[in-house]
Amino acid sequence: MTKLWGGRFTKPTNKLVEEYTSSINFDQKLAKQDIQGSLAHVDMLGKCGIISQNEVSDIKKGLSIIEGKIEKGEVEFSVADEDIHMNIEKLLIEEIGPVGGKLHTGRSRNDQVATDMHLYMREKTELMVELVEQVQSALLQQAEQHVETILPGYTHLQRAQPISFGHHLLAYFWMFERDKERLQDSLKRINWSPLGAAALAGTPYSIDREMTAEALGFERVYPNSLDAVSDRDFILEFLSISSIMITHISRLSEELILWSSQEFNFVELDDAFCTGSSIMPQKKNPDVPELLRGKTGRIYGNLMGLLTLLKGLPLAYNKDMQEDKEGMFDTAETLEGALSLLAPMLESMEVNVGQMRNAVKEDYSNATDIADYLAIKGMPFRQAHEVIGQIVLYGIQNEKYLLDLTIEEYQQFSDLFEEDIFEKLAPEQVVAARNSQGGTGFKQVHKQIQLAKQYL
Ligand code: ARG
Repeated sequence: MTKLWGGRFTKPTNKLVEEYTSSINFDQKLAKQDIQGSLAHVDMLGKCGIISQNEVSDIKKGLSIIEGKIEKGEVEFSVADEDIHMNIEKLLIEEIGPVGGKLHTGRSRNDQVATDMHLYMREKTELMVELVEQVQSALLQQAEQHVETILPGYTHLQRAQPISFGHHLLAYFWMFERDKERLQDSLKRINWSPLGAAALAGTPYSIDREMTAEALGFERVYPNSLDAVSDRDFILEFLSISSIMITHISRLSEELILWSSQEFNFVELDDAFCTGSSIMPQKKNPDVPELLRGKTGRIYGNLMGLLTLLKGLPLAYNKDMQEDKEGMFDTAETLEGALSLLAPMLESMEVNVGQMRNAVKEDYSNATDIADYLAIKGMPFRQAHEVIGQIVLYGIQNEKYLLDLTIEEYQQFSDLFEEDIFEKLAPEQVVAARNSQGGTGFKQVHKQIQLAKQYL
């Protein structure tokens, strides 16, 4: 009987059960955090006089040897030892003898695994903050170059009003800013220490939870041992934040896909970020943004998976909770990949300024401005809207855009029209005029860029 918990058993575990219940194939990703938690725990056991200083140093030495071996890929984990916690404990006992068995004094795998996941989530959350900032600075860089680049702004994917391309890109900057803020805020809750809650009820040893919390860089300890071992809110929160973030990434990707189609031809993604077709030699496919859009499914799925996993669980630990890990790893890794690709793809994107500008010429997206022109001259806006509607219809029927109509044609619809209408209709003028706070007017976009810089 070689199981660490074998004492109470008379039969070996069924092989299929062993396979089915083990988590080592995925939770070995927590090896580093598991050792980090153990080092803090064993130090505390020594300082509190629960084990001797010699035992502490033997155990610490053993753990660092094991850590080195794991890093070098010299360790073969075993399914029979179920999970990363028992694999490492087993290796420790093999390395330093029975004294290794003292490591697990005053703790349980339940507070241990929760501690490991808090440490993992903190590392990934901090990494995500850095990666989001790289995406933000790529957006900002492009925005700065394209304050005066004009393209149609859309509603209902119909040309609505001309806008600055810089302004369009900055909209994403602020979405990512909120994502970053959510990540940073979540650190407050990630930084609670479950260590010392033991299996569910605490422990009779006089341990010092504040000491381990501090050693591990946590800000506080969970005040309730049952909550400490059964809380997975911090993972749910990460998965929620990630879901919101991938929604932003997916919307941006969708625009990049549209914009790089021949129909729009607004941008050209760098060759290094596109792939070809095995049959159609002319093709350059936007695979990266397509995949970013596609990855959204698994990230939402991981959130739904964990919500569903937790909803019916009684306190405290249940084996179901072992299922919390793969979705967490998958989301963290998927998002890491997405953000790492998005930044250089945006930086290297070519913008077809002329094509965007042409799109604005060949539409009626300056119609609101003629309505405003009449409204400023005293006509109620609702009535002006009706008049301009008739002018647009006239234009469509006569195949003329608003800038192509003559002053006589305008005056047929209202005698408020004068020659100055034409300068008001030039797209540069239309954009510049929208100088209300947060608007697309060039001055406002410059202000926005200054503000954005303060956030980076
Ligand atoms: N591998 C387990 C998990 O990830 C560790 C905790 C096991 N605790 C227990 N009482 N069986 O959930």
